[in-house]
Amino acid sequence: MTRLQINGQTKDVDAPGEIPLLWALRDELGMTGTKFGCGMALCGACTVHMDGSAIRSCVTPISAVTGKAISTIEGMEVDPVGQVVQHAWVENNVAQCGYCQAGQIMTAVSLLKSTPRPSEEQIDQAMSGNICRCGTYPRIRAAILQAADQLAQGGQR
Ligand code: FES
Ligand code: FES
Repeated sequence: MTRLQINGQTKDVDAPGEIPLLWALRDELGMTGTKFGCGMALCGACTVHMDGSAIRSCVTPISAVTGKAISTIEGMEVDPVGQVVQHAWVENNVAQCGYCQAGQIMTAVSLLKSTPRPSEEQIDQAMSGNICRCGTYPRIRAAILQAADQLAQGGQR
């Protein structure tokens, strides 16, 4: 049994410590917002936060996250930055097929928490590990810039 802190709640997972966090989220806890893409830390679809930093849950064993605060896309609806980012995503019609977008949003929220007013270059650098086969990169950049503006104004939407 491994005890995890996910989106502010305690969750017990009946699985060996070496199983990846992504498997625990999706298969053990039914939290399917976080996506499986490559399983090799190459695409970013599985991005979640550990103590506020973006990590790849497909290659992170649950034994490595015990005692850490994990946040997933499901937790962004009550996260002040996550709310603004998701609103900007909708306003900019970012998603196409949608598959990569939970990971994109998690990386964007992590970026804006560490760098509240990122330049376009900083955005491209931060988001470079999140692959979108639909090519939504320009809309992702626009949404992050809009979210940064809105957060600078106090988060009004
Ligand atoms: S599924 Fe984790 S990086 Fe691709
Ligand atoms: S929206 Fe389709 S993979 Fe990104």
